[in-house]
Amino acid sequence: MDTEAVLRGGEIPGDWMDLIEAIHREKGIALILGASDTGKSTLAHLLIAQLCRMGNVVALVDGDIGQSVLGLPTTIGLALFDSAPKPLDNIQLIASYFVGSITPRGHMLEVLVGIKRIADRASQLDPGIIVIDTTGFVTGETAWELKFQKIDLLKPVHLIGLQRRREIEGLLKPHQFRPDMAIHRLKIPDKIRMKSPEQRRSNRSRKFAAYFQEVKLYEKSLDGIKVVSPFKVRYRGKGLKGVLIGLNDEANFNLGLGILENLDVHRGTISFVAPELDLTKIRLIRIGSIEVDLFGNDKTHHH
Ligand SMILES: Nc1ncnc2c1ncn2[C@@H]1O[C@H](COP(=O)(O)OP(=O)(O)OP(=O)(O)O)[C@@H](O)[C@H]1O
Ligand SMILES: [Mg+2]
Repeated sequence: MDTEAVLRGGEIPGDWMDLIEAIHREKGIALILGASDTGKSTLAHLLIAQLCRMGNVVALVDGDIGQSVLGLPTTIGLALFDSAPKPLDNIQLIASYFVGSITPRGHMLEVLVGIKRIADRASQLDPGIIVIDTTGFVTGETAWELKFQKIDLLKPVHLIGLQRRREIEGLLKPHQFRPDMAIHRLKIPDKIRMKSPEQRRSNRSRKFAAYFQEVKLYEKSLDGIKVVSPFKVRYRGKGLKGVLIGLNDEANFNLGLGILENLDVHRGTISFVAPELDLTKIRLIRIGSIEVDLFGNDKTHHH
């Protein structure tokens, strides 16, 4: 099976067609779960393409903060489609939420709150259908709890599980008695390409490098801006240079990312590098928990 052909509507397997029909009939949130490299993002793209062709307006919530399709890693992005999109990157985002990490480990609340905030933002636009892509973080107790709470919070009309064998059965089963939720189990396409950890890292670097290609050094007074982070106290004195920061608006939606130069809480100033952006809207600056350089290399020192 060839992805391009699939996206053109050529060779869509029968059970995938049934899923598309089911979402078209019963509109609402469609949440896609699956381990890494199970075709979640490709399925999301296919759903958008086919459902738009059937006359729907479809929102995509990209809840994958590691291998993002929309926007940058560490963020949850929102885009809206009324026609079949070609590639999903370079799509104009409607909203974005900064999680601050490339994995939900240690950031469960930000992931959960972020995905809900972005899904609510999507609902306000009344798209009819909201497709939600997620990380491949499905193994272990922490992942189980995150996915359980995510499903409970988002209440998808369609819960879609992509699995090789039965590896996410434990995530799907607890929801089988919900009257307003259909569970769809899909097999993994044979031809799927696996990404190595190095490929995943270089995908992220490439996105960060492109984003930080043209930057300016900003120095800003902290009047009217709140720096928020549970790490602030821990880091104090050691400096935060190199840490990725989220430049957020008054509603805590993300306006852009920066790399911190210096935070001086005594003088009340902050300096960071970031692409050209309107600083006047920044009200909250969230300190992330990864360090990147201008080439997108992950420099994180794990404390
Ligand atoms: N139906 C398909 N036919 C052929 N190739 C596919 C199909 N679905 C996905 N692929 C390929 O397999 C790879 C993994 O797919 P995809 O990125 O959609 O998976 P994912 O579950 O979103 O992965 P990640 O864990 O990185 O988020 C991609 O290179 C994609 O092009
Ligand atoms: Mg993906």
